[in-house]
Amino acid sequence: IKEVVKFAEEHFVNIIPEIEMPGHASAAVAAYPNLACFPSPDLKVIESWGVFEDVFCAGKEETFVFLEDVLKEVMALFPSEYIHIGGDECPKSRWEKCPNCQKRIKELGLKNEHELQSYFIKRMEKFLNANGRQIFGWDEILEGGLAPNATVMSWRGESGGIAAAREKHKVIMTPEDYVYFDHNQGYSLQEPLTVGRLTTVHEVYNYNPTPVDSLTIEQQKYIYGVQANIWSEYVTSPAKLNYMLYPRLFPFAEIAWTETKNKNYSNLMLKRFPHHIEKLESQKRL
Ligand code: ACM
Ligand code: ZN
Repeated sequence: IKEVVKFAEEHFVNIIPEIEMPGHASAAVAAYPNLACFPSPDLKVIESWGVFEDVFCAGKEETFVFLEDVLKEVMALFPSEYIHIGGDECPKSRWEKCPNCQKRIKELGLKNEHELQSYFIKRMEKFLNANGRQIFGWDEILEGGLAPNATVMSWRGESGGIAAAREKHKVIMTPEDYVYFDHNQGYSLQEPLTVGRLTTVHEVYNYNPTPVDSLTIEQQKYIYGVQANIWSEYVTSPAKLNYMLYPRLFPFAEIAWTETKNKNYSNLMLKRFPHHIEKLESQKRL
């Protein structure tokens, strides 16, 4: 990690780590069963992918001790001001039945498990803020109330980002319908195996990360940027990674940096694309 961070710094790139909580934690609770609501030797590292019910217990103090320790190690490795703490896709089924989680809900006078998740994220934010860091969270962190200084990554569409901007929170737009590069990029049957769905170069190019119809000029200032996601479940080689990234990364760069009025699709495709393709070919990336 130190080498990667150094290489990135030399190229003016800031790496933001994501430590997922309280969901997507099945490997962690398999290794440390006490951190689950219902510890059991049956908790296994999952060998497929998806969203799983055994998440970090939000009622036990040791969960927070553990995660603060993890984040201390993360902060020592990553100088980034921002640290992503996930927050997405956390089923609440275990919390609903867990005596520790229910005790926490009662003691704090919380309304439901969404407010318990909000407590979880706010508590971790407080820890990171006290250490001079800021948090990113996926848009689920809006449910049950936003942590005071959180920046929201809006992935389940734009509505989470719109709501966060209206609450004067910084937003990164990354809606799955437009900027998920693990989707197919063409209609051909020869496209490689992916998670499915379709996101073409043209769709990426037509996406405007600033929802001008839903936000006032003042609120639009909270849209800090746009992010493309490529989840790697189906990315089986560096060559496939390049295939999934390019050429969609070119229109993506354009929507990140170019004002809408200056966008020009045919200029991008006919004038500039050929140079990019030539460069990638010479780098043996296509
Ligand atoms: C996400 O794609 N689960 C953020
Ligand atoms: Zn619990």
